[in-house]
Amino acid sequence: MVDLKGKDILDGAQFTREEIDCILDVADDFRKQLDTQKGLDLLKGYVLAALFFEPSTRTRLSFETAMHRLGGSVVGFSSAESTSVSKGETLVDTIRTIDQYVDLIAMRHPAIGSARTAASVANAPVLNGGDGAGQHPTQALLDLYTIRTEGGKVDGSTIVLCGDLKNGRTVHSGVEIYKHFNCKLVFVAPDQLRMPAEIIERLRAQGSAFEETSDLAAALKGADFLYMTRIQKERFADPAEYEQLKGSYVLNRAMIESTNPRLTVMHPLPRVNEIDTDVDALPNAAYFRQAQNGVFVRMALIALITGKV
Ligand code: NCD
Repeated sequence: MVDLKGKDILDGAQFTREEIDCILDVADDFRKQLDTQKGLDLLKGYVLAALFFEPSTRTRLSFETAMHRLGGSVVGFSSAESTSVSKGETLVDTIRTIDQYVDLIAMRHPAIGSARTAASVANAPVLNGGDGAGQHPTQALLDLYTIRTEGGKVDGSTIVLCGDLKNGRTVHSGVEIYKHFNCKLVFVAPDQLRMPAEIIERLRAQGSAFEETSDLAAALKGADFLYMTRIQKERFADPAEYEQLKGSYVLNRAMIESTNPRLTVMHPLPRVNEIDTDVDALPNAAYFRQAQNGVFVRMALIALITGKV
């Protein structure tokens, strides 16, 4: 077992392969335990702060569910408006205060690097639930867990990442996680939304196998997994540019049937228009199972960083 006790979870690059495998194994274990019981008392008495300065459904509620299923409890907020941030309090002062109350902090904030800033002043471990267009490591881990549970094997598979690769924090963390596996990545994006140059350069320097294209149908032919993403409206300075790009890729059932009927379709959600609802009934549409996996993976992370497993 690896030792993650007291560690912050800030970005996808922080993990070793051994740590990733361990987190996923612990998640599997919790999944099995929840088959026969509603909850555990491993984290009894512990309190998690869920501090969401940006909108969230899955990340916040699955963190909260994970903590409750482990027997702990949760405090927090889901918008900054109701907090002293609206009176002008800084992030650092908010974190320093809440750190006096709780054992763990899960947070989401619009500024890149905000979770790292919080971690630098908090004694409690900080879990980054998304820092602007930066990183979203817990999502990347649950994505990997989904690939493992849906396809059985990550090594040797081809994963297509499609959509807003420039602003999408889940894919920024994802590439750092996938680099530990012998898989091929295909990046599909319109020119304006390509994977950031520094990530591409890093992958090149590491000798990772990847390709870039704007042709989704061609990329699907050899793929095992498609990871579709939303065009990140809230990151556009120019609304007209968003309007122009929002329909860049729309996956539908006919496209899957004509290119690759065995394709497993994933999405961190929320979806806007990039996956037609006619895909939902396909057995390989994995995105709602993926959302459920968030609970198991976040249980694993919470239990590991509190030293309970
Ligand atoms: C993602 C996010 O917030 O980055 N959602 C999530 O956490 N499941 C993806 C998105 O908002 O498009």
